[in-house]
Amino acid sequence: MDQYKTIILGYPNWWGTFPMAVFTFLEEYEFAGKRILPFCTHEGSGPGESERDIRKLCPDAKVLPGLAIRGGSVKGSGDTIKSWILKNG
Ligand SMILES: Cc1cc2nc3c(=O)[nH]c(=O)nc-3n(C[C@H](O)[C@H](O)[C@H](O)COP(=O)(O)O)c2cc1C
Repeated sequence: MDQYKTIILGYPNWWGTFPMAVFTFLEEYEFAGKRILPFCTHEGSGPGESERDIRKLCPDAKVLPGLAIRGGSVKGSGDTIKSWILKNG
């Protein structure tokens, strides 16, 4: 992980946040000083509480504004994803 300054973190929204495996990932590594760029798929709740949960688990990381895409719309979201990536450097 030391070699990464920006982590692009993807997950599905499960019960308003990310799945437990993602909690474990965020708990197990050190994210202080890194940028986290979250993106998720969902079926109506958007990111839910997931970005708040990332900030709680990684208080010393910089959590950038995330991207939430409805699962059924992923196929047609290439431009949205591209501009989100570019906007966040
Ligand atoms: C256990 C479980 C819980 C879910 N909870 C939510 C939820 O709270 N809000 C929501 O918008 N979608 C929820 N979903 C829908 C998933 O976010 C959606 O299926 C996924 O983002 C799309 O990815 P997929 O095509 O791999 O299923 C849930 C799905 C599962 C399986």
